[in-house]
Amino acid sequence: MRFRAATSTLKRCGLLSLPIKDWLRGLEAYSPPSGEGIEVVLDLNESPWPPPESVIEAIVRALRSSNRYPRREDVEPVREALAEYAGVEPRHVVIGLGGDMVIEKAFQLVVRPGDAVVLPESCFSMYPFYARVNGARVAGVTLSERGEEWVLDWQLLLEIVKRERPSLVGIDNPNNPTGSIIVPGEGELVELLENAMRRRVLVVLDEAYYEFSNVTYVGLTEAYPNLLIIRTLSKAFSLAGLRVGYGIAHPELVAKLESLMPPFLPKPSLYAARAAIEDRGYVRRVVEVIVSEREWLRERLKMLGLKTYRSSTNFVSFKPGIDNLEEKLRERRIAVKSFRIGDYKIVRATVGKPRDNSMLVNALREVLESG
Ligand SMILES: Cc1ncc(COP(=O)(O)O)c(C=O)c1O
Repeated sequence: MRFRAATSTLKRCGLLSLPIKDWLRGLEAYSPPSGEGIEVVLDLNESPWPPPESVIEAIVRALRSSNRYPRREDVEPVREALAEYAGVEPRHVVIGLGGDMVIEKAFQLVVRPGDAVVLPESCFSMYPFYARVNGARVAGVTLSERGEEWVLDWQLLLEIVKRERPSLVGIDNPNNPTGSIIVPGEGELVELLENAMRRRVLVVLDEAYYEFSNVTYVGLTEAYPNLLIIRTLSKAFSLAGLRVGYGIAHPELVAKLESLMPPFLPKPSLYAARAAIEDRGYVRRVVEVIVSEREWLRERLKMLGLKTYRSSTNFVSFKPGIDNLEEKLRERRIAVKSFRIGDYKIVRATVGKPRDNSMLVNALREVLESG
């Protein structure tokens, strides 16, 4: 009875009478795109190949004891394997449900309502999302097109860091959605880190596509406790659906991030991660094929007269040439994703299996020819 009275009061006042934070009132749920009717899935930068058999076997083993919470013995070997893979000590590694969760915790740790967060425009969508969730405003540094690359104006970035006094700077390198390497070099990054250190700013450097770029600044985490590197097993390791990512940072920063992590990560994900890191040969083959297919795809897009960009990732971005390209490809059961960078529109297509890539090229030819 009393319960019914309470619900009717809530109904009368409306749910929004709850003390929801002002900056969260307009926020809507992230809704994953539908895969229904799609034959060629090239919209989320996943690996087109499933994980190897060794990973599937490890998941089955984990399922057999899934009545139990994961113990320390289930987690620590994963941390050790990731550390060995990344060339750091295990105390430099924090594991999350996807790189996404490590990014979330970084924001939770340092970003207060009203703060500025400096990001390239555009970048991986979860950065502006977590800025918003934490009540911060985004100070964007626009990317500009230079030949076949997108570049970040590093001097402008340094000025904005000085002017805005942000709590966090996030840079995805390579950048999503352009595929470009946007950190000019170690000297420039060190200059940013020094500046950021003086102003007590956390720099999140996202290397989600490291396996495709071979560019890493992990070596700087020892000297710069304000640097957090993000990595993931969602791309080259074919584990997107199991949600395993990690951060690499100075042990003191790792300890602070760990203090915000949920107590348990799913056992199948932990077991899968360990097996995936051990099967290095599989990842090497996946990367090799994707890189060669990526270059094939770029060449074919160029032959269709499309402006494409050099990519250090598992996707290719290009100027669409016509309106509504994403929709027109969807009608042909192919999913890609379009983005806006300032006044430009670009389309991002994940590199798929050879057959997927051929189907994309053929569909693009048809769509472009029919206007
Ligand atoms: C730049 C970048 N960072 C992080 C991620 C997150 O990956 P996950 O949460 O699957 O580890 C992605 C995924 O697309 C990405 O593009």
